[in-house]
Amino acid sequence: MKLVERPEPQPSTNDAVVQVYASGFVKTELAWSSTWTDRLDRDRTPSIPGHELAGVVTAFGYGATGLSVGQRVFGLTDWYRDGTLAEYAAVEARNLAPLPGDVDFTVGASLPISGLTAWQGLFEHGRLRAGQSVIAHGAAGAVGAMVTQLARLAGAHVIGTGRAADRQTALDFGANEFVDLDNEALEDVGRVDLIFDLIGGDIGQRSARLVRAGGTVVSIVGPVEARPADGVAVDFVVESDRAQLSEIVQRVRDGRLRTNIGTVAGLDDAFAAFNSTERRPGKTIIRVHP
Ligand SMILES: NC(=O)c1ccc[n+]([C@@H]2O[C@H](COP(=O)([O-])OP(=O)(O)OC[C@H]3O[C@@H](n4cnc5c(N)ncnc54)[C@H](OP(=O)(O)O)[C@@H]3O)[C@@H](O)[C@H]2O)c1
Repeated sequence: MKLVERPEPQPSTNDAVVQVYASGFVKTELAWSSTWTDRLDRDRTPSIPGHELAGVVTAFGYGATGLSVGQRVFGLTDWYRDGTLAEYAAVEARNLAPLPGDVDFTVGASLPISGLTAWQGLFEHGRLRAGQSVIAHGAAGAVGAMVTQLARLAGAHVIGTGRAADRQTALDFGANEFVDLDNEALEDVGRVDLIFDLIGGDIGQRSARLVRAGGTVVSIVGPVEARPADGVAVDFVVESDRAQLSEIVQRVRDGRLRTNIGTVAGLDDAFAAFNSTERRPGKTIIRVHP
């Protein structure tokens, strides 16, 4: 990976071009085929990674609606197109939502993937209802912190999991209980209505056995390997949704939801931040425009 000059992207039909102020990425994206190929499996390198942005609209393609030039926006960009670790990005306008003036670009760029993934996993795929119990794996991480907070806001009882060092962070994000997966038995929590799995493997398999009859395992790390005996297993990939982005940012504005940013770096340091081997809890945001 290297920092190079590339031509400014041109808007295709339905696109907005956004001057990127802040960009987010997922640590695993270099392992996704969509980072390297287009939808027809053709090589699309050199690729620009990063799929979350907050910035200002500078131009539109034919057919783009709902936004205006000069507007502050944030959103999730197409996995198969050049991404947001750049000064400008072309993105379908429908994948963007207005970013209110009192929400910082750094915060805006941290919300799309973690916020939408948590929202869709809990409410669309997990059909969470008040009074239910949820295991939020990796509760101190980027997605898990959102899962924990949104589930609590919805009136659920949340059992966060993670490393020993993450206990206080998970409790601060609102987990009612915490299981240190390296030293404590997950099975001691008993049966729950919903498992939000972002770890998979052995933890995913053991989790499936803890689902109450009629409950659900939602996985964001590929197909569920062990299905609950009397329940539903769903795996999904997050999709952009303007209305949900607006719901999420509204909760941030009124203090109900706190984003989990661990590191903020400049574009010159993006390469080092992306490839860091240190443990960096929370999201890393690249501040592209000072
Ligand atoms: N399908 C989708 O749409 C979608 C969307 C977003 C993310 N994802 C995937 O979901 C995963 C999580 O993403 P994220 O951004 O939330 O990552 P993250 O910020 O690194 O959070 C993951 C958390 O889980 C903890 N964890 C992982 N394995 C563990 C284990 N065996 N025992 C205890 N704790 C463990 C991590 O601790 P350590 O750092 O110490 O391991 C970290 O605190 C990634 O694989 C990502 O690619 C999928």
